[in-house]
Amino acid sequence: MEQSTSVPAPTAITDRPVRWGLLAAGNIARALAEAIAAVDGGEVVAVAARDADRARAFAQEFSIPRSYGSYDEFLRDPEVDAVYISSTHPFHREQALASIAAGKHVLVEKPTTLTVRDTEEVFEAARAAGVLAMEAMWTRFQPIVLDVARRVREGEIGTVRSFHAAFPMPFEYDESHRLFDLANGGGALLDLGIYPVTLAHLLVGHPTHLHVLGARVETGADALVALQWMTEQGAVVQVLTDSRSQGSTETIVRGTEGSIVLHGQVNNPTSYTVRRGEEQETVEGDRRGYEHEVEEMHRCLREGLTESPLAPHADTVAIMTILESARRELGVRYPQEDAPLHTPEGG
Ligand SMILES: NC(=O)c1ccc[n+]([C@@H]2O[C@H](COP(=O)([O-])OP(=O)(O)OC[C@H]3O[C@@H](n4cnc5c(N)ncnc54)[C@H](OP(=O)(O)O)[C@@H]3O)[C@@H](O)[C@H]2O)c1
Repeated sequence: MEQSTSVPAPTAITDRPVRWGLLAAGNIARALAEAIAAVDGGEVVAVAARDADRARAFAQEFSIPRSYGSYDEFLRDPEVDAVYISSTHPFHREQALASIAAGKHVLVEKPTTLTVRDTEEVFEAARAAGVLAMEAMWTRFQPIVLDVARRVREGEIGTVRSFHAAFPMPFEYDESHRLFDLANGGGALLDLGIYPVTLAHLLVGHPTHLHVLGARVETGADALVALQWMTEQGAVVQVLTDSRSQGSTETIVRGTEGSIVLHGQVNNPTSYTVRRGEEQETVEGDRRGYEHEVEEMHRCLREGLTESPLAPHADTVAIMTILESARRELGVRYPQEDAPLHTPEGG
């Protein structure tokens, strides 16, 4: 993709809705198109896909005024303020860098890129260009998750001793599916495991020691991974992810004075229960999902920030270091790490 550095840094958007452009028109782009429509402060003005007909059909379905069959042409659209990058992970780096060079703010699907180094590169480029860059780690912005983080931080369950979370999701094995195809970012860790690892990092802390067990499928992608780590504060974290099984996904934080259980899927908890001795309190979530990350982007853009205090660049990079260490232990290596990926067709 083309990269221009002549575009001036944008200023805070205070007097009008944020004008979104969607780069890629796949599964998760649909969810974001709906979320942007559901909240105040923004509108989708353009969508781009490698295939012009698919982009046009997506635009019609979601009443988006403009569609593009070329990412480069899309990035020259002066009315796009913020780009949502929802391609599969190997393409995020190049597309984020091109968007930033075009003077656009970026919301990049998780994982921001395939590697720690590339994630740092994207965030450094955004800060240098004066644009906002944020990983679309929607779990971080959900009010009940923020509430649990506050209660843990304030010591409501005492000193945290352990954390347990699992994110299994059963995918039919198909070597061409993005969960299993290494060339398309395959692997449970970067796709599913990133959620419980993010939650553990947010609620309990960064590892001092990390232990990893896991299994790969025939393509070489990780499918079943158990991580265990010790934090600087002396708590033990246990995280499991699996792209081939189903089952319970409750998340538990245990402390010296009580415990908190987050109910429902780890990336989008529906409620949580705090227990302290005989006392028990359950707090319901608001049942919204991607809307919170969109609202956070709008807030940051109104305030002219280049990173969200709820998703600091340093945290996203630190979480990538955990995932990358685990991946190295399991011998999972992406082809793009050896040979930088070339621009996809139409880009
Ligand atoms: N936040 C969440 O809850 C959530 C859920 C699912 C996925 N995700 C993340 O979102 C990203 C996309 O997931 P998805 O389920 O939406 O995937 P998808 O529908 O399979 O693909 C998304 C888009 O990526 C581009 N793409 C796919 N394969 C490609 C290839 N081989 N070469 C070039 N471009 C390719 C295509 O863009 P065009 O439309 O331009 O052709 C496609 O529409 C992943 O990074 C994933 O981790 C997040």
